[in-house]
Amino acid sequence: MQADYIELKERRKRRVLTILLDMVFNRTPKINDIRKQLENYDYLLLVAPVWFGKIGTPLRTVFQTIKNTNKQISLTTLSAGADGINPNLEKEIIKRAGIKPKTVINLLISDLLPKNPKPNFKVLDNYKISEIKADTIVDKIINQL
Ligand SMILES: Cc1cc2nc3c(=O)[nH]c(=O)nc-3n(C[C@H](O)[C@H](O)[C@H](O)COP(=O)(O)O)c2cc1C
Repeated sequence: MQADYIELKERRKRRVLTILLDMVFNRTPKINDIRKQLENYDYLLLVAPVWFGKIGTPLRTVFQTIKNTNKQISLTTLSAGADGINPNLEKEIIKRAGIKPKTVINLLISDLLPKNPKPNFKVLDNYKISEIKADTIVDKIINQL
């Protein structure tokens, strides 16, 4: 994308159980301190997976940090899409960051695969994006921003 990027890192390896606990207890996972870096930008494109219909929980710290600032944000995700798009991502950003995002792009792995036979969870879960597909997706994202 030829944009600067800031990587969110967690100390411990994330497992499905960690995700479940984050959901049940509405936890905000600890990540590396990126507060200083965020100050340098007026517009952030957030990139995250979707877990149980929610934005990847490590982003919660970012939402807290930028809450009620006048930063502009967009979100892009590439998620499995077994049940179609995840309809609540914009609402979650507004709730957590107090900012209405400029654009929310929920790309689905299920749209990248043949429709017949319908891809099952295992196929969606094992999907690895190729470099060529990644380039196409990046173009798609840039066009929507
Ligand atoms: C515990 C768990 C829950 C998930 N829930 C959803 C979901 O609600 N909607 C969706 O589209 N994808 C869902 N996914 C698929 C992830 O969004 C997908 O695996 C992600 O894009 C992969 O990113 P990663 O390779 O960086 O983990 C889920 C995956 C996991 C592991």
